[in-house]
Amino acid sequence: MIWLAILLEVVLLGLALWLCLVIGKLFFVKGYRDYPPFVPSFGQTKKLEFAKISKLLQKSSVPLTVLDPGCGTADLLIKLAKAFPQHSFVGIEWNKGLYETAKFKSRKLTNVTLLCQDMFDYSFVKADIIVCFLMAPLMERFGEKIKSECKKGVVVFSNTFSIPNLPLTEEIKTRKFLLFGNLYIYKL
Ligand SMILES: C[S@@+](CC[C@H](N)C(=O)[O-])C[C@H]1O[C@@H](n2cnc3c(N)ncnc32)[C@H](O)[C@@H]1O
Repeated sequence: MIWLAILLEVVLLGLALWLCLVIGKLFFVKGYRDYPPFVPSFGQTKKLEFAKISKLLQKSSVPLTVLDPGCGTADLLIKLAKAFPQHSFVGIEWNKGLYETAKFKSRKLTNVTLLCQDMFDYSFVKADIIVCFLMAPLMERFGEKIKSECKKGVVVFSNTFSIPNLPLTEEIKTRKFLLFGNLYIYKL
């Protein structure tokens, strides 16, 4: 029992340190501020994204492509891919460690494609649904990319950060944790 308590404390301490490092870097390292660090989506917003995307995938009689630019370890994408084998899922992650983790986790899924590259070098043209959790300084450039490359009808789900240059379809307020919460939905 005591070992379990110690292990829990070590894990919690590790999490707290990691969070301090991420937040500290955001404030003090300029280059870091322009790109979203790895913060996995969690809680109510993630559940809501899963439920909303599942509904769209269930309703569709044709195979759809779900794109997750900046997928991290691709948790959400993999969960969706397991539930909907008839649809395709593409994750883009430029951090090699995160990409390799996502690759390993999805190794048995034939409907998941993962790419280790900058999302801005990948065309979004094939996406039917986009799900993202990025960061404020990137959102305008991201919106421009969506406007110039995506087909009509694409649905975009953005965790926490709104996309200022896309017409908002729905904003759902969710419980906030630190800076994170709310879901923004756009239909082009
Ligand atoms: C806030 S995390 C979100 C991770 C995941 N989508 C989730 O919801 O759990 C943002 C991720 O985007 C990745 N990222 C940031 N800029 C990127 C870029 N230009 N190209 C590819 N990945 C990028 C980061 O490495 C990080 O893993």
